[in-house]
Amino acid sequence: MVNEGKDAASDRHALAAVEHHHAQMLQRMQHLTALLAEAVQERDASAAHDAKDTLVEWCENELLPHALAEEKFLYEMARERPEASMLVTGMLVEHRTIVNTLEELRGLSDVRAAAVATALERLFALHLEKENRLLLPFIVEQPDLSLVAAVQGLHELTGELQAEGSGHAHTTTETSLD
Ligand SMILES: [Fe+2]
Ligand SMILES: [Fe+2]
Repeated sequence: MVNEGKDAASDRHALAAVEHHHAQMLQRMQHLTALLAEAVQERDASAAHDAKDTLVEWCENELLPHALAEEKFLYEMARERPEASMLVTGMLVEHRTIVNTLEELRGLSDVRAAAVATALERLFALHLEKENRLLLPFIVEQPDLSLVAAVQGLHELTGELQAEGSGHAHTTTETSLD
């Protein structure tokens, strides 16, 4: 049964908000990874140590809550559709790989830390492409699924756009990138 009441414009706006948040997250991750790589290249062990800790902390505070919120509020909903089931299963595997790679990064230093951080960044970028180009448009196209209802109130998924006019405290993802 098709739900004719779906507001397609609101769903497209929600998609744009999640895409924007993804872009912010990737930019932040690339910045932190570059700081680590530069410190390693300059053989500054203390700066490399700090840069790795900052990156790991950002992943724990921003990346992991984002992935958990997606699994609960987006993946579960899409997985029930036979056309999206395999895609979601594959994307859950990527989430696990991201978590495992982060765990590996935690125990590394210097060149190996920079190499694994770069791999994590590329893995995340590839994963975001699938979300932006495949999963989110699929949800928007479904007449009886609502992306805007799924992401409403979740700053883990929509970032600062969600906060427009709400005056809430900014999270680290929302701070400007230097
Ligand atoms: Fe994801
Ligand atoms: Fe995402």
